[in-house]
Amino acid sequence: MRLLNRSDLFALLLVLSVFALSSKAQTPSVIAATPPMGWNSWNHFHRNVDDATIRAQADAMVSSGMRDAGYLYINIDDTWEAAERDAQGNIQSNSKFPDMKALAGYVHSKGLKLGIYSSPGAKTCAKYEGSLGHEDQDARTYAGWGIDYLKYDLCGLREQMKAASSPEEAHKIMFDAYIKMRDALRHTGRPIVYSLCQYGNDAVWRWGTEVGGNLWRTTGDISDKYASMSQIGFSQAGLGRFAGPGHWNDPDMLEVGNGGMNADEYRTHMSLWAILAAPLLAGNDLSTMTPETIAMLTNRDVIAIDQDKAGKQGDRVWAEGPIEVWVRPLADGSKAIGIFNRHPSPIDAQVDLGHLGIGKVKAKDVWQAKDLGNLPSVYSAKIPGHGVVLLRTQP
Ligand code: GLA
Repeated sequence: MRLLNRSDLFALLLVLSVFALSSKAQTPSVIAATPPMGWNSWNHFHRNVDDATIRAQADAMVSSGMRDAGYLYINIDDTWEAAERDAQGNIQSNSKFPDMKALAGYVHSKGLKLGIYSSPGAKTCAKYEGSLGHEDQDARTYAGWGIDYLKYDLCGLREQMKAASSPEEAHKIMFDAYIKMRDALRHTGRPIVYSLCQYGNDAVWRWGTEVGGNLWRTTGDISDKYASMSQIGFSQAGLGRFAGPGHWNDPDMLEVGNGGMNADEYRTHMSLWAILAAPLLAGNDLSTMTPETIAMLTNRDVIAIDQDKAGKQGDRVWAEGPIEVWVRPLADGSKAIGIFNRHPSPIDAQVDLGHLGIGKVKAKDVWQAKDLGNLPSVYSAKIPGHGVVLLRTQP
């Protein structure tokens, strides 16, 4: 056997370093490293969404300052699909969306990304064309249009699941369908956020990552009422261990600015979603926002909590009837603390922070934008009905 000489060694080193460089370049960056932020058409516009609406929302996301605050995705929900596929089986948009590729180009030109919606069933929830049997083809079409996010809503597949001979078989039908679209999206080579929507059935948080979900809905649909929002938000206790960078629990889109809750209730909505490391997908009409709505949606301190790099979802740590304390640990060693009042009238809350392991530490009242200095070991505050005090301690 010949020993390696100098030039052999040099060649070997060169090969190794080229290999190291190229494998580094190929390491995929995590999709949805922090919870996705953006907007979705459903909560406000429902079926009344078209190309002009989407362009106007993209414009408003920029002019309102939301893009600069971190909102990125403009997501078209259900009802964009044509009644029939073309002769080759390609999905087509209906007359409300004459040119998806041009629309994506417009949204991208604003520094934003475009999302779309489909179902693993033959039909979507609104009875439009779903992706069943066309998964690869649809993923290729989306990638060709320049789509960056897919919400994949179970709906139509429930027909197949109902016909299954056991709950286990029904589960497998759903599981396999989500894997099929995961693989189809991966094959396009385009980074596309994969959002599972199946209302939290079969404890999706336990297997959502396995089927490639970057986020998964943990509940049924939210509506613009305190009862709905709070029922959803406060039922997320214990789900934190399933979330992290690239894979998030999704308690559904925001209703802030839609008018069905008061300002205290919307602050509860934002605070709870931030503590839950939830996606922040605004669901209001961005082109007609009041300054108060803009201020709520773009509050930098609230967004910083939501988008915290450590990606640790918070949890409930204490309750006294309607008073609940939720804490989220943050990357810099600080903590976000939400003291919520679920009662409709104001309440004097007294929280023994020392008992909760939150020692004498400086803190800021986030919504009041006020430094509080050192917190006392028993923190007292009057909290409005359905309201919140959101604190961030100093590291
Ligand atoms: C389901 C989803 C909603 C929305 C509608 C559209 O209800 O949960 O978020 O996408 O379908 O039809």
